[in-house]
Amino acid sequence: MGNKNITIGLFGFGCVGQGLYDVLNHSQGLKATIEKICVKDKTKKRKIDANYFTYDKEEILKRDNLNVIVELIDDASEAMKIVRQAMNNGVSVVTANKKMLAENFKELYELQVKNNVALIYEGSAGGSIPIIRNLEEYYDNELLSSVKGILNGTCNYILTRMELENKDYSEVLKDAQASGFAESDPWLDVAGFDTKFKTLLLTIHAFGVVLLPDDILNTGIQNVSYDDILYAKQRGLRIKMLGVSFKSGDKFRVYCLPHFVDRDSELNNVFYEYNAVEVEGAYSCKQTFVGKGAGSHPTGSAVLSDISALTYDYKYGYKKLRKALNGNQKIEDGAKLIEYDFSIKLYIRFQNREQLNDLEILSIEEEYKSANTNYIIANVNFKSLFNIYNKPDNKLFICAV
Ligand code: HSE
Repeated sequence: MGNKNITIGLFGFGCVGQGLYDVLNHSQGLKATIEKICVKDKTKKRKIDANYFTYDKEEILKRDNLNVIVELIDDASEAMKIVRQAMNNGVSVVTANKKMLAENFKELYELQVKNNVALIYEGSAGGSIPIIRNLEEYYDNELLSSVKGILNGTCNYILTRMELENKDYSEVLKDAQASGFAESDPWLDVAGFDTKFKTLLLTIHAFGVVLLPDDILNTGIQNVSYDDILYAKQRGLRIKMLGVSFKSGDKFRVYCLPHFVDRDSELNNVFYEYNAVEVEGAYSCKQTFVGKGAGSHPTGSAVLSDISALTYDYKYGYKKLRKALNGNQKIEDGAKLIEYDFSIKLYIRFQNREQLNDLEILSIEEEYKSANTNYIIANVNFKSLFNIYNKPDNKLFICAV
């Protein structure tokens, strides 16, 4: 345990903020206290003393007795303003805001260098799984070839309950929202955006490659049906929403798609809101980290671990990124290192053939038509998937085979 006292200004007291409050109150030996909490809604009843709260962000940002800002609000652009101001004031920041981090990584990296402050964010990917610090520290010299996993608790919870409990998609999505797993806008979860933000962060810490969210393809489970789940089940497979990032020659392939996962994979047996990250290295070989990926206390515990790390002045070293930068200060456009032109085998369920017009289908291995459902198993040019991905009206369900 470090010896520095931490006085925290907290932004947000939603699911994760309250989780942090609870785990901090039950932690032993950590010299950290929450001094003030900034929230938006003046009418909401809170479970702790009203004196903790302020509605004015400047009241926290201008205090000089705080040495850490913990940002846990869900508006990514407002979060960015808070984090930018705090870092420019020379204060270290802990956040779990994967959207903000993914959308603004270059600037956030530069703010760390310019102000010599820490920005740490273990809770932003994999919930309670300590993956970012492991990629940074444990695998700092390991030649990693692949990082992939179940990174969204909401998707995994929905898929699990649809399969194991025969429940309806919209009913279990509501339960995921009520349990505090889903984002306020659950489209971010089900359409694969949340998985993509986390995959982007893991790609930085695993490979030192910085991408923009638009560089990474994501489709989700928003159109999954029981037929798809049954198709997988009958073949001994399970549908899992995965973020994948791996080396392909001297380039990388990075994308987020539902996948058919077979029984031999450890990812096959990860259920409900649990997440799992599989890391593969040249010498360590395959290792899988499993843990709760969403929810108040699991995410709160990852945030607490970051706060604890600040008591000994921890910062990410960004060793792989620095190596890739080779002395340059400016982060290069990582998209040029990404491979887009390759063939990927997909299961595609559709209503009418026109929906597939924008896809470059290279070959069809299986085709099924009936009154209720049509699907193909086809090899498709990956690049052409960008033409159709996440159009809310396309109603396709796409799954990597
Ligand atoms: N909505 C996210 C999930 C929360 O379901 O995984 C944790 O990042």
